Amino acid sequence: MVKVPGPFKTPPSLSLDSVTPADVPERPLAAPRTAGASKRSAVPAFEVMQITDEVAKRRAAGHDVVSLCAGEPSARPAPGTLQPAGYTGPLGTIPLREAIATHYLEWYGVSVDPATVAVTTGSSGAFQLVFLTAFDPGDKVALVSPGYPAYRNILTALGIEVIEIPTGPETRYQPTPELLEAAVSEHGQLAGLIVASPANPTGTMLGREELTALSDWCNKHGVRLISDEIYHGITFPEPGAPDPRGVSAIELSRESIVISSFSKYWGMTGWRLGWAILPKELVAPFESLASNFALSPPAPAQELAMRAFTPETYAERDAVVETFARARTLILDAAQDLNWGTSAPSDGAFYYYSELGPQLERFGDSSTYARALLEQADVAVVPGSDFDPVAGHRAVRLSYAAGEAAVTEALERIIAFQKA
Ligand SMILES: Cc1ncc(COP(=O)(O)O)c(C=O)c1O
Repeated sequence: MVKVPGPFKTPPSLSLDSVTPADVPERPLAAPRTAGASKRSAVPAFEVMQITDEVAKRRAAGHDVVSLCAGEPSARPAPGTLQPAGYTGPLGTIPLREAIATHYLEWYGVSVDPATVAVTTGSSGAFQLVFLTAFDPGDKVALVSPGYPAYRNILTALGIEVIEIPTGPETRYQPTPELLEAAVSEHGQLAGLIVASPANPTGTMLGREELTALSDWCNKHGVRLISDEIYHGITFPEPGAPDPRGVSAIELSRESIVISSFSKYWGMTGWRLGWAILPKELVAPFESLASNFALSPPAPAQELAMRAFTPETYAERDAVVETFARARTLILDAAQDLNWGTSAPSDGAFYYYSELGPQLERFGDSSTYARALLEQADVAVVPGSDFDPVAGHRAVRLSYAAGEAAVTEALERIIAFQKA
């Protein structure tokens, strides 16, 4: 496999390499399988993780780095003790599947059959199995840019064609039936649509009306809607606003697939636990795949996750969300001093996505800006190119999951850096 530097330019000594499909030589069909990597694996590396790695290296070298890079809450539950644990069922333990179903009743007032809940190794594990279960190679699946890069990269690795729908502030960076109609006119029949609300990197949300319109459009056109709801609960609604946790696609149609996770609201990123809620007819094929690909989701994590649904845990996590809300306000209040361009509304999740506006005249693109900011001010932000291959070079994403103190310090440094 040929490795080439990714869009985030770096000296070779830091080895921030990534691979893009164009860089991997074609392997002739008749060539032995040992002649190189599969075409499926020719996807770019996830730049956030590379930068996270570099942040760790710079900290080890004595730099005082403030990282607004990774989407990982720092407030985590205490780890359990080390003990051997056996496999569970391929779709997870029954008590956990029941507890997840009850969570839907609590938050959305919707009744979910626990038999349709599949516990997975993070929502990432759910994506792989859901895409394999729902789509065949050559199928076309639509998603928006800017968007979470793993959707695009996993689909590509599985031989599924990605139809990118560019979005902007006019639709709050979300798809609409009109945009889908236009995508069908240009590319032909779609097999699926992936939405995320709140979205990464923009934080924007689909309200009940917008999600209903998409869900109805998908059902009318035989398109499988996959709704990534991993950031539900990390929302900043006005008091008394409807649907304070977010609207779940499962409230609107049983044909949709909901994917979620313990990683964000519960801050359990490293426990690798997520779930999918499946239409009834997809449960058995999903289970066949899950039993081969993962055998079972991690047992200790499932045991621990049973504590996620107590009133005490909800209260504790809601208190963490309040800290995100305060960090978000710090950034929104600093918008004028940052002197950047158009930003997304940041309705939820813990991301602020903004065009760099006037800063582009000085730095050219967001990768150069992010590199200079890290080297000169020790503040890590993510260039938008990870999320939007076309227009992302003009934007950056800040994660305010790091909390108020880190955001305050970072904002001071960014403003001073830009004035220098
Ligand atoms: C929108 C979105 N979906 C899914 C994931 C994957 O999370 P996990 O596999 O930890 O559940 C992330 C992680 O950042 C994300 O931002």
